[in-house]
Amino acid sequence: MTRLAIIGTGYVGLTTGVCFAHLGHDVVCGDIDAGKVARLSRGEVPIVEHRLDELLAEGLRNGNLRFVVGAAAAVADAEIVFLCVPTPQGDDGSADLSYVEAAAREIAQVLPYECIVVNKSTVPVGSTRVVERVLQRPDVRVVSNPEFLREGSAVDDFLRPDRVVVGCEDRSAAIAVGALYDSIRAQVIVTDPASAETIKYAANAFLATKLSFVNAIAAICEGVGADVNDVMVGMGYDKRIGAEFLRPGPGWGGSCFGKDSRALLNIARETGYQFDLLAGVIAVNDEQFERVTDKIRVAAGGSLQDAVIAVWGLTFKARTDDLRDSPSVSIINRLLAAGATVQAYDPTVSAIKPGVPAAVQVHDSAVSAATGAHVLTVLTEWDDFRWVAAADVAVVMPGRAVVDGRNLLDRAAWQHAGFTHTGIGR
Ligand SMILES: NC(=O)c1ccc[n+]([C@@H]2O[C@H](COP(=O)([O-])OP(=O)(O)OC[C@H]3O[C@@H](n4cnc5c(N)ncnc54)[C@H](O)[C@@H]3O)[C@@H](O)[C@H]2O)c1
Repeated sequence: MTRLAIIGTGYVGLTTGVCFAHLGHDVVCGDIDAGKVARLSRGEVPIVEHRLDELLAEGLRNGNLRFVVGAAAAVADAEIVFLCVPTPQGDDGSADLSYVEAAAREIAQVLPYECIVVNKSTVPVGSTRVVERVLQRPDVRVVSNPEFLREGSAVDDFLRPDRVVVGCEDRSAAIAVGALYDSIRAQVIVTDPASAETIKYAANAFLATKLSFVNAIAAICEGVGADVNDVMVGMGYDKRIGAEFLRPGPGWGGSCFGKDSRALLNIARETGYQFDLLAGVIAVNDEQFERVTDKIRVAAGGSLQDAVIAVWGLTFKARTDDLRDSPSVSIINRLLAAGATVQAYDPTVSAIKPGVPAAVQVHDSAVSAATGAHVLTVLTEWDDFRWVAAADVAVVMPGRAVVDGRNLLDRAAWQHAGFTHTGIGR
């Protein structure tokens, strides 16, 4: 058992804390948000994430897990401290390190002797050195241990990672951090800090590239009369390509892909390399929001002015409540700007959730959101939508057009109920 402190209890920090407690470590989580700390201490999970509630309850019950207000209070007895604070996009596209620096400043004087500080936030190359400089503690070693979990399956991803990356010049510190994952038999890759930091950005940029590539092929499929779903099955069987992440959609989003891709563009620029490929990946994604908006416009009869559009799905992906940089919200903003009325439903989102555009009417069921609509569009791949009967929607919806931004619905069933079904790339 190692005594750990986790700074920041968001998607990454909370998952890290409860999972390490589950693995038998003694964990104290610190956050500046006193309200969040109070809720977590009562066993209330403030986000939607499968199994977090179960592991939080377990950790509180067996005493492996505690929550305190502030970073300094969390680290008092720690052997290893994880920084899991935000690294938002700065004005010039680079990652804003101010939260990381503020947290490091806060703990610098109270860290126990020879403690290890781990950067789990996604940070630009060189940030390990930045933290060392802020800490001014020669006895403290700083390690990079980027996180690869996906929202929606964060706990499973943490407990069954494809790999764990540990970057440090000091071998004993790298071994100590890698050893925390011993019981889950993770593949641990030990490298220097710059390589560890680059791995995280390169992985996210590559995944964004894969998605933009699929959406570009989908556009071609529409032109040549091919079905992108079949094309992707045919591509995915090639082991060099792999079947994962070959799904067309309304564009990618979420709290990481956009900011990390832009941060990598910035890193490349600073090294003197013009990363045109990645700039193209981002441009293709922005175009995809426009393409889907256009499909909805066409389905509405050529104009969105005064059209009532039912939107199924607000979150950036299914199985989360996270609206940050959601493609759905990007498209909704375009619909609203063009004069449409938007009625939305999402299983995890209520009208009062921050991030929902103020003009959107949020309903409490999929059928209710479709009531009175001219066009229905699916923008998040929630499984629930698959099972809504087209006949029930036909009763409440005067329009007969569906724009399926996730290729989720059973096209034949919806056509049978009298709807036109416009998908992506088919
Ligand atoms: N969300 C993801 O899917 C994901 C996946 C991998 C990596 N990351 C990276 O992990 C980092 C954290 O992301 P997130 O989504 O968990 O962020 P988040 O916004 O959900 O959570 C951050 C938390 O840090 C707290 N915080 C901020 N400053 C603090 C301080 N000085 N002391 C204590 N707490 C503080 C905030 O109150 C908040 O609770 C980012 O760098 C992100 O890029 C995120």
